[in-house]
Amino acid sequence: MPPAPYRAGLTSQTQELRIPELPVEGTVPDWLRGTLIRNGPARFEVGERSYNHWFDGLAMLHAFTLGEGSVGYANRFLETGARREAQEAGRIRRSEFGTDPCYSLFGRVMAVFRPPVTDNANINVVKLGDTFAALTETPLPIRFDPETLETLGVVEFEDDLKGTITTAHPHRDPSTGTLYSYLTHFSRKSSYHLYRLEPGRSNRERIASIEVDRPAYMHSFAMTGRHLILAEFPLVVNPTELLTSGVPFIRNYRWEPERGTRFQVWDRATGEHLASCTGPALFAFHHINAFVGGTRERASAVRAGPPNTEPEGVETNSRREKGEVVLDLAGYEDASIIDALYLDPLRRGQPEMPLATPWRLRLDLDRETVSREVLSDQNIELPRVNERRVSGRPYRYVWGTGNRVPGHFTDELVKIDVRTGVVRSWYAEGCFPGEPVFVGRPDAPPGPEGEDHGVLLSVVLDARSESSFLLILDAATLEEEARATVPHALPLGFHGQYYGQDGAGSK
Ligand code: CO
Repeated sequence: MPPAPYRAGLTSQTQELRIPELPVEGTVPDWLRGTLIRNGPARFEVGERSYNHWFDGLAMLHAFTLGEGSVGYANRFLETGARREAQEAGRIRRSEFGTDPCYSLFGRVMAVFRPPVTDNANINVVKLGDTFAALTETPLPIRFDPETLETLGVVEFEDDLKGTITTAHPHRDPSTGTLYSYLTHFSRKSSYHLYRLEPGRSNRERIASIEVDRPAYMHSFAMTGRHLILAEFPLVVNPTELLTSGVPFIRNYRWEPERGTRFQVWDRATGEHLASCTGPALFAFHHINAFVGGTRERASAVRAGPPNTEPEGVETNSRREKGEVVLDLAGYEDASIIDALYLDPLRRGQPEMPLATPWRLRLDLDRETVSREVLSDQNIELPRVNERRVSGRPYRYVWGTGNRVPGHFTDELVKIDVRTGVVRSWYAEGCFPGEPVFVGRPDAPPGPEGEDHGVLLSVVLDARSESSFLLILDAATLEEEARATVPHALPLGFHGQYYGQDGAGSK
């Protein structure tokens, strides 16, 4: 098989550019005034050695500044400890997701007691009050200046919450700005700690904790207006082995499908643990959205029945209180996608690449059961919704990347109407789009009608010219509005957020 056509997107890009105005084809909407900041790996080798996994490459930030119908671009490496030490030593010095440093025997013994934790924050970005930070799955957010992309140092929290692993996908309550996230603390008795962080504060407040024997690998979690939900996929680790095995982080996790997937559900406000629902074994990186379900069905059932005929009792009362959570995710049958994303197989191209299905899971919090349905036959990854409007609420549209040609990885952008299953897509031969970020029009009508009124911003690799462009699509029709071409190829990245001048932002 020839090398994968998107290979330029998995090649190191060490050039740092600052271009006030990129060449634009088409028309950039006048109302689009803000900055899209994207994160991802950009250097895949140190000295003679290559990192093993797509998730391991050294972090680079990319900023696309939109306004007055034009697009500016800048990119800069994040100056992390992982990068600095690698540069100084000429070799990999910190443990990444799928790569460990090469230890001498003495170094390995020392590493058992003092594992060098990476701060290579290459997954996502977030705004904490007025602070911008780059995120990865170790709890070491890296502050940066959104104008210059200069690295400013690790975010220091003033609290005593402990954890080894976290998510690069915190949730934000769109009405209050409060951030919600969790930590996995590895110990003789390991725990998950859920917390909130109020805007502008530096102390994380613990909402709830739960002990866990074999912590699961969870890349993201779910939140409704009322609940926090951890989906414990059956990809689990023995924390003791993690410290002593001598193999890279993710290789310590085992797929144990007989466990099923356990959904731990808490009340977001009080921290009360509401349910532990067990469903089919599955794996996902990304939750799509979640919301309180069943209210309409239950309300109408109560109305239809004769008054006061329901038996009184604790069970009935608690059943009415707990109800149902609807949880949508981009799910895989198993965790083999992690292996498919090692750089070697990814660069070769894999016709059998596992693809994610948009699944809807209904969690019955009273019976602690889970049912599953397929929302569409269209595969989807890197899913995004109109977060400001529908995060944690019933919704209609999800956008993401799709895979059309086997072996092509992500080669199209898709929009799925989860109510009807109708799919729209954008595809161009030789082009490999990344995560589409939704930006709502300021004049979008309120309510469900305006949910898809806006644009999608996606960075696309053009494999034929080995360059990338920012693609601006009409989010409703997926028709192209404009593209702004960057003079070099951007490595395939993970996540980004849009920060509007009017204060509107995606996260
Ligand atoms: Co992610």
